[in-house]
Amino acid sequence: MLYHILAVGDVVGEPGLRHLERHLRPLQTFKQIHFTVVNGENASSVGLTPDQAWRIRDAGADAVTLGNHTFGKMQIKDFLDDTPWLLRPANYTGRAPGHGCETFDLGGVRVRVMNLIGRCGLAWGTENPFTTADRLLDQGEADFTLVDFHAEATSEKLALGYHLDGRVSALWGTHTHVPTADERVYPKGTGYLTDLGMTGPVESVLGIEPWQSVEGFLGGLPGRYRVPDGPCKMQGAVFTLDSATGLCTAVERVDIR
Ligand code: FE2
Repeated sequence: MLYHILAVGDVVGEPGLRHLERHLRPLQTFKQIHFTVVNGENASSVGLTPDQAWRIRDAGADAVTLGNHTFGKMQIKDFLDDTPWLLRPANYTGRAPGHGCETFDLGGVRVRVMNLIGRCGLAWGTENPFTTADRLLDQGEADFTLVDFHAEATSEKLALGYHLDGRVSALWGTHTHVPTADERVYPKGTGYLTDLGMTGPVESVLGIEPWQSVEGFLGGLPGRYRVPDGPCKMQGAVFTLDSATGLCTAVERVDIR
């Protein structure tokens, strides 16, 4: 049987949350989606609160993944330990609360979701994401394995795709907020996309008020980041997975305005 998995790029601020709440369920119906993963680490711009995590969940996410801003709102700390569907990067060290890998029951089909963070130009103090993935794949069984690799460097994302090719069903990147046009199925059957893009305002710099970003690059004081209002986009990808093989047959990018 074929399953359709939807991965949605980083939800940014209140405008991104509202856009997700308005458009996720209609897209799930239209694309006949069985399981949805949403990256939520920017729901508060930097981090997210338990209430915002619930809003993403209630909007239609089965799993919510995070990244370098996991602890941007410290009230998420205890919530991470108590919430199986909320994942922080699995290659954080054991000193960090929460967990980064969870298996969900999809009507008898086991869907394992893994959240990893890259080290190139991002999270230097974490465990190696490649060997962490190896270790997690050796633990427990799953019919499908999905990986959200929250990383800056395209090389690190592409390389992890090759490292896990044929061993995971789909691997996509998050964090850069700019979608890449390299969706494909790798040679051994893993669905891949370097970056999903983001869910938030179109007229922005990665979801932030443009003049603030410009001011920063001019060497001035941009102030506390603000997420502008205005038309939004919801970007991500649909991975078609075959339960007979556990691998991917097609990848399609989505961009809902
Ligand atoms: Fe990030």
